[in-house]
Amino acid sequence: MFGKLINYNVKENIIYFNFKNGEGRIEIISPSIINVFSPLKYKEHNSKAIENLKLEKCGFKAERINDFIKITTEELIINIYNDFKVDFCDKNGLALCQDYKKERNPFIRRGEMGIAEEEGHEAEKGFKKHKIEVIKKLFGDEKFYGLGEKTGHLNKKGYYYEMWNTDDPRPHTESYKSLYKTIPFFITLRNKAAFGIFFDNTFKSYFDMGKENSEYYYFGADDGNLDYYFIAGDDISKVISGYTKLTGRTPLPQRWVLGYQQSRFSYTPEERLMEVAKKFRENNIPCDVLHLDIDYMENFKVFTWDKNKFPDEKKTIEKLARDGFKVVTIIDPGVKKQKGYSIYDEGLKKDCFAVDKDGVTYVNKVWPGDAVYPDFSSIDTRLWWGDNHKVLLDINVAGIWNDMNEPAGFNGPIPDSVQFKNDGNPTNHSEIHNVYGHLMSKAAYEGLKKYSGKRPFVITRACYAGTQKYSTVWTGDNQSLWEHLRMAVPMLLNLGLSGIAFCGTDVGGFSFDCTAELLSRWTQLGCFSPLFRNHSSTKTRDQEPWAFDEETLNITRKYIKLRYKLVPYLYDLMWQCESTGLPVMRPLVLHYADDENTYEINDEFLFGENILAAPVVEQGKRYRGLYLPKGEWTDYWTGEIIKGGKFIIKEAPIDVCPIYIKAGSIIPNYPEQNYIGEKKIDELTLDIYPGKGKYTHYNDDGESFDYKNGRYTIYEFDIDLNKETLINIKKSGNYFNYKTFKIIYNSKDAKQVYFNNNRIEFEASDRGIVFVIPAEEGIINII
Ligand code: GLC
Repeated sequence: MFGKLINYNVKENIIYFNFKNGEGRIEIISPSIINVFSPLKYKEHNSKAIENLKLEKCGFKAERINDFIKITTEELIINIYNDFKVDFCDKNGLALCQDYKKERNPFIRRGEMGIAEEEGHEAEKGFKKHKIEVIKKLFGDEKFYGLGEKTGHLNKKGYYYEMWNTDDPRPHTESYKSLYKTIPFFITLRNKAAFGIFFDNTFKSYFDMGKENSEYYYFGADDGNLDYYFIAGDDISKVISGYTKLTGRTPLPQRWVLGYQQSRFSYTPEERLMEVAKKFRENNIPCDVLHLDIDYMENFKVFTWDKNKFPDEKKTIEKLARDGFKVVTIIDPGVKKQKGYSIYDEGLKKDCFAVDKDGVTYVNKVWPGDAVYPDFSSIDTRLWWGDNHKVLLDINVAGIWNDMNEPAGFNGPIPDSVQFKNDGNPTNHSEIHNVYGHLMSKAAYEGLKKYSGKRPFVITRACYAGTQKYSTVWTGDNQSLWEHLRMAVPMLLNLGLSGIAFCGTDVGGFSFDCTAELLSRWTQLGCFSPLFRNHSSTKTRDQEPWAFDEETLNITRKYIKLRYKLVPYLYDLMWQCESTGLPVMRPLVLHYADDENTYEINDEFLFGENILAAPVVEQGKRYRGLYLPKGEWTDYWTGEIIKGGKFIIKEAPIDVCPIYIKAGSIIPNYPEQNYIGEKKIDELTLDIYPGKGKYTHYNDDGESFDYKNGRYTIYEFDIDLNKETLINIKKSGNYFNYKTFKIIYNSKDAKQVYFNNNRIEFEASDRGIVFVIPAEEGIINII
């Protein structure tokens, strides 16, 4: 397509290439992040994912070698050939990723569809050329991870996906090409090296990871620019860090957001909502958030309340707050088309809605009936929409749940021809569709920030790369099926690898009826999902922790309580995420990429670096085969220490989710609470597992942006184990101090304990000793 390479020239960090039939650019973002660009539609980048990118100053060299141009940075060698074919090698010249130099050549598909199609079977329609296609050679040893929210397994090699945000209520299966989210980013692991590719194109895009032919994989799109980033890293963590440096990182949330959340379509009227709240406290189950689904509104009109169901919504929220509950309300994009409804009238007056090709406001149908769609691609609409949230924030609604923002339409898909303002570069739906939810979340985030001053809590169903800056996500309308519980693990792991560190599923499943056993097992997974929300559809059977029997109540309580215990550890992970981009739920391969056994583990994961969880995702299963990577691991439930680097079988009765703690871990724990913030935590418990390790604990006010101005305290722990255990404690910042640390040291070997050379009394515990020290800098010696 590009033809022969004619010449090149260098301006600052960009190398411009002239080909016979077009123009190409290589931009050096950093020594290990390279942008490949051709202005096929727009002269410059028009990214919705990358904002305020700061370039690293770095040296590079460009030179002609025979018929190609060689670019050398400190980390990479990039060779550019005719037809704008690009090869990436590491600094020693070892090929990492090469363009495929031949044409696409799909495997043969034999037979006729004819009558099979009549019976309703779907066939691959075969070869479809895309306006943009980047075809890469498959070396054969690749593993592909990421691509956001896709069904199937962790490793995407051999599968084909599309990026077109889709609301499909049928049970999602492995063969689904697209769901609600577009994250055109994947990580390749090959030959123990890792790199990522982010294809920043919002049009419908295509990712064939070696399904069409095992000699190559490709990504492509129907329109837009050729614009992708190659992100090299020695390991997966560095690739994620590079990708999130481009697209942004999940910001530290308010602390209560990490608590348990209960939802349902819908808790109305007020009495029902109150009844649910009461049941939590009666049953001694911690809970922080109750969600209000669409029925709280008057005729599904956003930013209104149905006064028959909630006569005084402000009072309702106040009453719940007294008991420690926060309320999150759903807000859909579809605005009811009804004269006299202020949001509709105002939006029309301000020209905030998308229009058809003739400039007439576009109408489709969603919950409120005929509805119009805010044009979130326009800054004026985003500001107006953000401001609309004030009415909810004024009565202390604590967060916003954005739904149906693919955007969905009950009268069929929104035509490509629908027009959007796109902040001064008018375009149509084909370009905005995949970023509609992203831009809606951005509007909500900014509105919440402006009017609450707190760290916004937004949940969205649809998203694009970079949405992590504004919103957490849930995986949409799953079903109460074991297969969906199984699939939830690789789906959440791949979301995390794709920059979305804060995500979760509808615990228990949305559609269809949950069973007691499924709820027990799903709550065990939920305990380790950053967003821990039980939600189900209208007319499904009750799915709250108490809805089944005593056993299920006890099991769900056990895991919700465990979650509350782990909140300070999870908060530390979220804090780290703001600077590293690393997710909370991590596939084992993220930390153990030198161990091939970890490459395809779909049903266990690391919760941070220190905790390994292997949830049971099959009905009736009471034993679990699982892999422990190298090192020593303590069985959380029995205290047994197991040497890793092997597969083991763990007994997993219905109330046991296998959990292991890595040697040398320090896990901060909170005391039991009904909700986060119920107790002032003056004493932090540290659950310590002998070994060698470091741990950083972070503490702040848990809600405001003051931490950005240094209002926090950081405790650093360094644990070493020789003849005696030494724990070195350092502290920086002085704003949110504890008075004491309660140390649970999980070893029976201890005879004496000293803190800064003063002897400390201790008590024996089941697995070791317990003692209390002042929460100060110093050295603990355990002899
Ligand atoms: C969509 C959402 C679901 C919600 C329902 C009603 O199906 O995905 O979570 O309960 O709409 O608002």
